[in-house]
Amino acid sequence: MTASAPVDPDTIAARLLDWYDAHARELPWRSAPGAPPPDPYRVWLSEVMLQQTTVAAVKPYFTQFTARWPDVTALAAAKDDDVMAAWAGLGYYSRARNLVKCAREVAALGGFPANEAELRKLPGLGAYTAAAVAAIAFGQRAVVVDANVERVVSRLFAIEKPLPGSRPTIRAAADAITPHTRPGDFAQAMMDLGSGICTSRNPGCTFCPLATDCAAYRRGDPGRLPIKAPKTARPARVGRAFWICRGDAVWLVQRGGKGMLAGMRALPDDNWTARQDGDAQPPVPGDWQCDWQHLGAVQHVFSHASLTLHVFAMIEGPVDGLDGGVWWPLDEIHKAGLPTLFAKAVRLALAQTD
Ligand code: ADE
Repeated sequence: MTASAPVDPDTIAARLLDWYDAHARELPWRSAPGAPPPDPYRVWLSEVMLQQTTVAAVKPYFTQFTARWPDVTALAAAKDDDVMAAWAGLGYYSRARNLVKCAREVAALGGFPANEAELRKLPGLGAYTAAAVAAIAFGQRAVVVDANVERVVSRLFAIEKPLPGSRPTIRAAADAITPHTRPGDFAQAMMDLGSGICTSRNPGCTFCPLATDCAAYRRGDPGRLPIKAPKTARPARVGRAFWICRGDAVWLVQRGGKGMLAGMRALPDDNWTARQDGDAQPPVPGDWQCDWQHLGAVQHVFSHASLTLHVFAMIEGPVDGLDGGVWWPLDEIHKAGLPTLFAKAVRLALAQTD
């Protein structure tokens, strides 16, 4: 390990767990510190939802999902479309597709496997999620490293190498302090410490149970770590979506089964996900024999690209030949399960056409 070791790795877990016993966040998917572990279904569901997503954003989705599908058998029996619609707004939609696949595999197995290696084989369970479920739901010792834990460990061990290259070093350091007892509480304590005290900016070191262990604190500059390699700019893309109304209904389509927002309900668009040519496109849909009004554009940032989506309303034109979609009542548009990008486009269209 190229990092300086903290004072006493063996006692870090004990001190962190004492702190967790007094300060653990109460979250709907958690057991109280020291209590028997929660249902693996709830742990798995919450961990999938929490990938790249904040606790605040996840809470209402978790509550709605568990009310509607209280266990893995219920979710396995759900219609794909219902799950995709219930996931709308949470982003990273491949998670929802894998969620249903995984639920069906687990239901067929008769329950979640109780160890990290078997969990890792399930759809949508990467290294982080498999380790988190093994530790939190099954009390297995597993090294659970998310972005919060990366920050805590980088500071504790004063790891100077920039992320993401430092990940193997961080993992080895996290492994060195992960206990055999209460590994699930330990993982969640690290997450709570990272989100509440060992924050990216202005860490609250005076409240930190590990301050005396922390190599970066002793050097006086914990907020400098972890160092991050400069990000490459997201490519800017341009697309067009079409607002086609008939009476009090709008034409919605179901996106194809591959690529971005796959399987989600959406406004029809110009297939911008498949193009690389950005704004080299003509401003209105060329092939359609009708008049279009440009209503404006919405911006959306995906993990790998930013998008400007121009919205065009059909003023007059033939709607009879449309297929592959549905006429969706405008006063029920909030129930369509549109992903955030298209929800933004709908808001723009409704504001412009009122
Ligand atoms: N982020 C990811 N998993 C979490 C958990 N179990 N508790 C709080 N934040 C988390």
